[in-house]
Amino acid sequence: MSDTPRKILVTSALPYANGPIHIGHLVEYIQTDIWVRFQKMRGHQCIYVCADDAHGTPIMLRARTEGIEPEELIARVAREHKADFGDFNIGFDNYHSTHSDENRVCATRIYERNRDKGHIARRMITQAYDPVEHMFLPDRFIKGTCPKCGADDQYGDNCEACGASYSPAELKNPVSAVSGATPIDKESEHYFFKLADFEQMLKEWTRGGHLQDEVSNKLGEWFEAGLQEWDISRDAPYFGFEIPDHPGKFFYVWLDAPIGYQASFQNLCDRTEGLEFDAFWGKDSDAELYHFIGKDIIYFHALFWPAMLHGADFRTPTAVFSHGFLTVDGQKMSKSRGTFIKARTYLNHLNPEYLRYYFAAKLGSGVEDIDLNLDDFSARVNSDLVGKVVNIASRCAGFINKRFDGRLSENLAEPDLFDEFVRTGESIAGCYEKRQFSRAVREIMALADRANQYIDEKKPWVIAKEEGRERELHEVCSMGINLFRLLIGYLRPILPATAERSEAFLRIAPLSWASLATPLTGHEVAKFKPLMTRVEAKEIEAMVGDSKEDLAATATQAAPTGPLADDPIAETIDYNDFAKVDLRVVRIAKAEQVEGAEKLLRLTLDLGGETRNVFAGIKSAYAPEELEGKMTVMVANLAPRKMRFGTSEGMVLAAGPGGDELYILNPDQGALPGMKVK
Ligand code: MSP
Ligand code: ZN
Repeated sequence: MSDTPRKILVTSALPYANGPIHIGHLVEYIQTDIWVRFQKMRGHQCIYVCADDAHGTPIMLRARTEGIEPEELIARVAREHKADFGDFNIGFDNYHSTHSDENRVCATRIYERNRDKGHIARRMITQAYDPVEHMFLPDRFIKGTCPKCGADDQYGDNCEACGASYSPAELKNPVSAVSGATPIDKESEHYFFKLADFEQMLKEWTRGGHLQDEVSNKLGEWFEAGLQEWDISRDAPYFGFEIPDHPGKFFYVWLDAPIGYQASFQNLCDRTEGLEFDAFWGKDSDAELYHFIGKDIIYFHALFWPAMLHGADFRTPTAVFSHGFLTVDGQKMSKSRGTFIKARTYLNHLNPEYLRYYFAAKLGSGVEDIDLNLDDFSARVNSDLVGKVVNIASRCAGFINKRFDGRLSENLAEPDLFDEFVRTGESIAGCYEKRQFSRAVREIMALADRANQYIDEKKPWVIAKEEGRERELHEVCSMGINLFRLLIGYLRPILPATAERSEAFLRIAPLSWASLATPLTGHEVAKFKPLMTRVEAKEIEAMVGDSKEDLAATATQAAPTGPLADDPIAETIDYNDFAKVDLRVVRIAKAEQVEGAEKLLRLTLDLGGETRNVFAGIKSAYAPEELEGKMTVMVANLAPRKMRFGTSEGMVLAAGPGGDELYILNPDQGALPGMKVK
């Protein structure tokens, strides 16, 4: 039934290593994973690799704020990302990092081959420089007044108030977001990738069926605007790879990021007998190579990446598949509405298969945005998965277990109906192949309706009560189980965990597409256990509530709201790390409500001679008057943090099991404000 085996390498974009995975990201990883699982079920060799994107200024600065080395930050985030992806059943064959030996080798090779062919230029440019931190400032790290509308506190490249884009030089009253100093102009030499050298090749490639139509049309506009040289170097301090022939200069994060696809694959080859790098990346490779990405990073994947590969004598991608952005209830994900939902927060409340199903039901092959409507989400999961699919098995399995010792009948009651289900499978496979998952889901649900209709017509619960109809009951229920098996087979790329549990119930090997056409007869199944429960409104409310709390926790840096009691003890640190934290005894001189803040109290802390203003997320646990006069402990050398309500100058220590329950720490009698904690 499947066509001849193909060799396929698939990637998803590499998530940045400075933040958690959220449900927006998951659109991409779920989309890719469904496609990969489908290809595997068809019997193809399909390899899915990804990695953390670990370089760049934001990661360097984030580590600095946390007072740790970038290596430590990216190691921690890698663990979190892997756990999140694992729990969503994203079945990577390998998950690596761009900060790896393999990537250094791959990046150097691509750079040097392009350089040796004359595709790299060098010239001096002038850029904004932070004279206090001694670093060049990316646009995002310059803030100031919008030159168009006058809004304060806008980024160096565009205004969030009026939407204007401009260059950082046009920004009024610019300041460095790192130190607060006024940036100066400074010259330095940069390396450029000469994209225009590849104009002809790219024109052909972008129109050669490797991109969705709407994407190639968009690129047409970019060609008209002219292909600019691409700045691929950054000056120290930078977290990345040094350019081989120029110490002190680093590859820009976006140069080595896509090369991370190669690096992750190389890392897999090194561990896998018979898997050859060149068989997939060599110029004469007969393998297929696909990149799944979001629409915001098309330029990098549809222009720079094929050009870099071509210039380095590698094959170019078979296709780049772009998807749209996730909105929640029709709006951009929002921290204040609680719709900026982290993968982990979701997992704390809901079954990952619900989201996989919902996204599948919404995803097409285009670049339109997709909306997660939380009411629609419960309604669909409950009516389709629980109400239709799982229901078929539970309606039939009881009789098979109780009346026939778990054995299915030797005959199929309705071979025609079974054949109809098998035939529709080819159309469903076509939808999966073309990434028309929403169509696949519609066809599968139409079959589920047919299966339920069959059972409604045969009424096994009536037959069961009548004498002499044993055989009919047996065949009807066995037929129902067989239809359920086909439905689960078709849904398997979307619902791998439910499929696995169904396979355990059916006592069968993992379903492949080809195995579906053979019915299960005269076969013993296991005792039926419920396969999936309904989504409850209160679970969704709790998830949204927790997403709001996440914000309070990060905004205040004051009260840990995570389940500290359940948290494993963090990695060990050495004494020097500990000694960096200046903990002081303080007296809470004043505690006040903060207007408009849900979680925060404003504390005036007396350090014995000095006072500090600290916002603490402890409003749920204390009334302000309970706190005044109490002694506690604060981190006194935390960098001040600007918040919506003012600047927070440190944090107080509190303990709690998670949620709203919190206890501030008290020193024993005798300790005085300002004393150092050691
Ligand atoms: N690190 C770069 C990609 C380098 S690939 C060589 C990056 N990282 S990211 O973490 O910002 O995004 C990873 C992927 O998730 C991107 O494809 C991005 O488009 C996608 N998404 C991030 N937020 C998203 C939504 N809200 N909705 C859908 N996809 C989103 O970009
Ligand atoms: Zn503006």
